[in-house]
Amino acid sequence: MDAYLTSLFGLEGRTALVTGGSSGIGRGIAGALAGAGARVLIAARTEATLEEAVARIRADGGRADPIRADLSTRAGAHALAAAAQQIAEVDILVSSAGINLRPPMEELDEQVWDRTMTVNLDAPFLLGQHLAPAMAARGYGRLIHLSSQQAHRPFAASGAYGVSKAAVEGLARSQAEAWSGRGVTANALIPGFVPTALNRRLAADPERVEALAARTLVGRNGLSEDFAGAAVFLASPASAYVTGQSIAVDGGFSVH
Ligand SMILES: NC(=O)c1ccc[n+]([C@@H]2O[C@H](COP(=O)([O-])OP(=O)(O)OC[C@H]3O[C@@H](n4cnc5c(N)ncnc54)[C@H](OP(=O)(O)O)[C@@H]3O)[C@@H](O)[C@H]2O)c1
Repeated sequence: MDAYLTSLFGLEGRTALVTGGSSGIGRGIAGALAGAGARVLIAARTEATLEEAVARIRADGGRADPIRADLSTRAGAHALAAAAQQIAEVDILVSSAGINLRPPMEELDEQVWDRTMTVNLDAPFLLGQHLAPAMAARGYGRLIHLSSQQAHRPFAASGAYGVSKAAVEGLARSQAEAWSGRGVTANALIPGFVPTALNRRLAADPERVEALAARTLVGRNGLSEDFAGAAVFLASPASAYVTGQSIAVDGGFSVH
């Protein structure tokens, strides 16, 4: 049984780069990949939370290293790819770093648009450009993106954020077309509402939090841990024939 499950889902010998792996959903995914045997490189800006996330994985017996990276410029994405490749050959890229600035549409200026697109879309694109060809040359790779309900339905001032997430799902399909034939799959996970630092203001409003939970079929909002199984699946050999897909991990939010 153990050998069979390991052949399907084991990540021993693989290295995963998880952007935004110091908080929320990315942190949950980083822990899950490490638990399945991967060495995890965690990238974000804030040293304290980075160190904390790395320490937690190590305390659980996993392998993790921090990389300070600022993806608010394209140069930051290029630099992160170089830094990660200096440490190890990256087999799995999880792009979880994201921002949601939420100005009303009429106040959405070019600056907000550019800031959103740089972190949410340019970074996953550029990291893929750097890392996926080497994955393809080695015959194994996994590109995992974080989309959003707001890619599909506007609510809570979707603005530039919803557009960036719709584009990320398109990016996964383009990457799937390019590299699936050489063992590199590309997919997106679509969370429901998960109270994290990203939506601190919304998460502080109990009525809205409860209303969002009521929109699910499971009857509660998401937790970082809810992404563990789907992330390990998409990172592992088990998902070799799953590519170009957007998979909702949302307690039924999107079908309710
Ligand atoms: N939470 C939800 O309900 C929800 C729903 C749908 C989709 N998502 C998506 O899921 C992903 C994770 O969201 P989350 O809720 O887990 O967010 P979170 O808790 O706010 O974590 C965001 C992570 O990204 C990093 N980050 C932000 N800006 C960065 C930058 N410029 N350069 C490098 N790292 C940066 C943060 O670290 P530093 O600030 O230290 O850099 C942090 O590690 C995002 O792509 C989000 O859009 C979330």
